[in-house]
Amino acid sequence: MVACWHQQLGLLVAAAAALLMTRLLLVSAMSDVPGAITFDDGFTPLFGEANMERSPDGRTVSLTLNRYSGAGFISSHYYHHGFFSADIRLPKDHTAGVVVAFYLSNGDVFEKNHDELDVEFLGNRRRHEWRLQTNVYGNGSTDRGREERYLMPFDPTLEAHRFSILWSSRVVIFYVDGVAVREVPRSGAMGGDYPSKPMALYATIWDGSTWATDNGRYKVNYKRGPFTADFSDLVLRGCPAAAARRDDPAALQLQQLGSDEDDRCAGSEFELMTAEYAIMTPRKRMEMRRWRQRQMLYTVCYDTNRYPAPFPECDVNMEERQKFWEWGESKVVRPRVRARSGSRRRAATATTQQVSLQQAD
Ligand SMILES: *[C@@H]1O[C@H](CO)[C@@H](O)[C@H](O)[C@H]1NC(C)=O
Repeated sequence: MVACWHQQLGLLVAAAAALLMTRLLLVSAMSDVPGAITFDDGFTPLFGEANMERSPDGRTVSLTLNRYSGAGFISSHYYHHGFFSADIRLPKDHTAGVVVAFYLSNGDVFEKNHDELDVEFLGNRRRHEWRLQTNVYGNGSTDRGREERYLMPFDPTLEAHRFSILWSSRVVIFYVDGVAVREVPRSGAMGGDYPSKPMALYATIWDGSTWATDNGRYKVNYKRGPFTADFSDLVLRGCPAAAARRDDPAALQLQQLGSDEDDRCAGSEFELMTAEYAIMTPRKRMEMRRWRQRQMLYTVCYDTNRYPAPFPECDVNMEERQKFWEWGESKVVRPRVRARSGSRRRAATATTQQVSLQQAD
């Protein structure tokens, strides 16, 4: 009997321990992004160092815009393709004119024919939502902007959300919280417009008063500042360009994407293209189309005034395209729950922040 009791107790303790372990594992699996690095492991300050603050563990960087300066950091290497990611939390309240950017570029090396992949956040007036914008440039195609703008299906000022860019030799994919939201496959027709030279990763906050909010109608109001964006779970997974540290851009210019570099980076390219997130299944494409239908405010693919013929990479849905001028920028965000009775109103107020801003239909 005693032995049996002990045995049972032992089992109970073991079960409790196992449960605790599972919990611990789950928690760490959720909070640890595979491959997330510290600031010092991959980045250097770019500008406004006084407005940059790092957490003691080096895993979160806060960038502030005040009336004196914005701030930014840059990867210590240029990369031949890769997967780049950050969990980003945006500043609250009145942020008109504020731009937060997370992007790849080699504009400081190739002034005339640079490449660029943008994830940009455009601030807004109080009670108006931040916009997310993506863009693609290749070999100086700055007169052929490929921008798209979206509403985010959450309030990006409440907590951090994950924004990622995959750039391989074959495709560019943008992700929001792990969901692919834009896919730009490389094609012969795209030619040099597909980014092909090594790029560095940037994170910045700056004053975009001249254009960011309603074409510059609403400017940064520094009385409502300072404005701080947090970047954490930074991921840089790619093949660093040989001999091309930021302090030696000339080396990069000479190097470009020679066949030696292709060989050296072949393993990392293979890893990149066979990673789970890089494989676009029919189900992921469906999820992407749904996300775009709900969240997209603007795409060059349907802007026939600007581009009578769509770009080769556009996935054109004729029905959506025909109605573009109806849904386009006219989409608005409103709380899903509309107040009718008193109790409903209270419920609506309570959930507005959480449910955060579904579009009116
Ligand atoms: C990129 O631009 C440069 C100069 O502007 C040009 O010589 C080169 O052929 C272009 N490359 C591609 C791949 O189009």
